[in-house]
Amino acid sequence: MKNFVFHNPTKIVFGKDKVLEIGKEIKFAGYKKVLLVYGQGSIKKIDTYDKVITSLQKENIQYVELSGIKPNPVFSKVLEGIEICKRENIEAILAVGGGSVVDSVKAIAGGVFFDGDFWQVFQRKARVKKALPIFVVLTLSATGSEMNPSTVITNETTREKFYFTSTAVYPKVSILDPVLQFTLPNYQTSAAASDIIAHIFELYFCGEDETELQDEFSEGILRTVISFTPMLLEKPDDYHARAQIMLSALFALNGINGIGRESGDWSAHMLEHSLSGIHPEIAHGAGLAIIFPAWLKYMMPYIEKKVIRFSQKIWEMDSPDAGIRNLKEWFNSIGLESSFKNFGIEKKEIPIFTEMAMRMSPLGSLKPLTAKDVETIFSNCF
Ligand code: NZQ
Ligand code: ZN
Repeated sequence: MKNFVFHNPTKIVFGKDKVLEIGKEIKFAGYKKVLLVYGQGSIKKIDTYDKVITSLQKENIQYVELSGIKPNPVFSKVLEGIEICKRENIEAILAVGGGSVVDSVKAIAGGVFFDGDFWQVFQRKARVKKALPIFVVLTLSATGSEMNPSTVITNETTREKFYFTSTAVYPKVSILDPVLQFTLPNYQTSAAASDIIAHIFELYFCGEDETELQDEFSEGILRTVISFTPMLLEKPDDYHARAQIMLSALFALNGINGIGRESGDWSAHMLEHSLSGIHPEIAHGAGLAIIFPAWLKYMMPYIEKKVIRFSQKIWEMDSPDAGIRNLKEWFNSIGLESSFKNFGIEKKEIPIFTEMAMRMSPLGSLKPLTAKDVETIFSNCF
């Protein structure tokens, strides 16, 4: 096993009605004025917004709002948030939403203390060392952003969808109340399942040695997602199933699944980011459901032993091809597309996706991908 340090400072508060404790958590941490950030209105369709406001008011926490964060969140909103924080002397930031809202908040929190061209941080030319404290009320479990140090943002001018990672942007407290996720549209639940599976894959298929416990843990999460997602599609307010998926998302990308392993491959993720950077209407998980099977096939010479194990442990089949086929069929069965064609994308866009992906190079650690490799994987997505 590889040497490792595991240190995750985020406090998780889980359970029914825990949303009502957000004010108390912020007050307990010593903050009196927050920037409240949310998306395009889903939190107002049910009473999530009201519950958050009630909880803040009860503890006399002042708040300024920034709404309208879009899925595949954009840099201009981050800059807007930074401006508000500076102007209003904001002490902490509260995200109420899914990964896009949480990621925007992380970027705003880090940007407040950054002098200069902040996009350089996403281009890996500079680093975030300090950030405003972050609190989260999570309404969509998928990305693991509620308990990790990463944020992914799209620059609308260049269409680059880049990330940065900094220990300064771990949320201080994340509230995971399954009831808030009962209203998720089925398509988002399915895209979330695909994203969780992809996070497991990035680590599971990278490095094979002496990680028996980690592999069993990964397979447990894969089986949980595969069992409970169809239940949620039948009954979106199934508390038990929601809770299982929420924990799966949390553990898939809060660092615990990566301990003692290589740090993951992540090239499939970078390919997807180049797709949804150019086509922000595509949900991250939906893109991954097409890219990952294509990536697995292409990388087979490097990971065959592990794909056989995956086929046996998850699908009870011996052939690696059958394992990948079953995965594709399962994605299909939960309503996710199996070809870029279904998104209305044409093959002539492949060079653009490839060029964008190569801007993030080096891509992958199993095999550093060349532009030719990337182009072939994208071609196999049709
Ligand atoms: O705009 P709102 O009203 O919030 O609606 C959202 C949005 O339309 C809706 N939604 C969220 N909670 C809901 C709800 N609708 C009804 N009821 C609820 N309870 O769902 C839609 C999608 O939300 P979004 O936040 O975009 O989804 P997700 O959590 O999947 O986040 C995706 C983003 O995270 C990035 C992705 O690339 C993408 O930009 N990722 C972030 C990572 C990280 N920080 O570690 C890692 C991931 O691999 C990923 O790249
Ligand atoms: Zn992901």
